[in-house]
Amino acid sequence: MSDQSWQIRPERAEDAPLVEHLNAISFGPGRYAKSAYRLREGVEPVEGLSFVAMDGVELLGSIRFWPVAIGMEKSLLLGPLAVQPGLRGRGIGIALMKHAIAEARAQGHASIVLVGDEPYYVRVGFARLAPGRVRFPGPVDPARVLALSLQHNVMLTLKGEVRRAHINQPICACGAAVAG
Ligand SMILES: CC(C)(COP(=O)(O)OP(=O)(O)OC[C@H]1O[C@@H](n2cnc3c(N)ncnc32)[C@H](O)[C@@H]1OP(=O)(O)O)[C@@H](O)C(=O)NCCC(=O)NCCS
Repeated sequence: MSDQSWQIRPERAEDAPLVEHLNAISFGPGRYAKSAYRLREGVEPVEGLSFVAMDGVELLGSIRFWPVAIGMEKSLLLGPLAVQPGLRGRGIGIALMKHAIAEARAQGHASIVLVGDEPYYVRVGFARLAPGRVRFPGPVDPARVLALSLQHNVMLTLKGEVRRAHINQPICACGAAVAG
């Protein structure tokens, strides 16, 4: 977009309600049932890797990452990535991903995994993993398990169960925070 009026900047605390709303309209209530959501439960997004695309005070799109462990390795779980429904197809999603991937690389992260549509994510370098190599909690279409190495000329060695890398806030089954 040559006449681009919008910019990408780090997400701020005051952006969170807008981002939550965008994710709600983009993914619907079914998002809580997804495997990827279980890996986010009780865990904060990776600090310094949440970005928003803004046109003035208007939120156009958002990307966040969550910290995961796969086997013995740490990785980043990409998502949610969402763009306002009326603004899709203008390059905002790809721009958000390119920006965030460059930042993740600069911060020294080794790899990114996600569950998503290969024809879209291949545009920024993601590739499908061999079926069963990386296992998410709950059912996931193996064709949608994608990964990207952030280290030049380093092959991905990710293998095993995807787990939360740590838990910030223990959650009980009813969703309420557990004291202490
Ligand atoms: C997926 C999403 C983030 C893409 O954002 P966007 O800003 O529209 O994407 P871009 O404009 O950067 O890229 C658009 C291009 O990608 C293609 N594309 C978009 N979604 C795609 C998909 N799921 N599979 C394959 N190609 C896709 C478009 O057809 C378009 O192709 P073109 O450049 O040849 O015309 C946006 O559609 C969205 O918010 N969807 C709802 C939430 C969602 O599904 N997020 C992804 C979770 S896996």
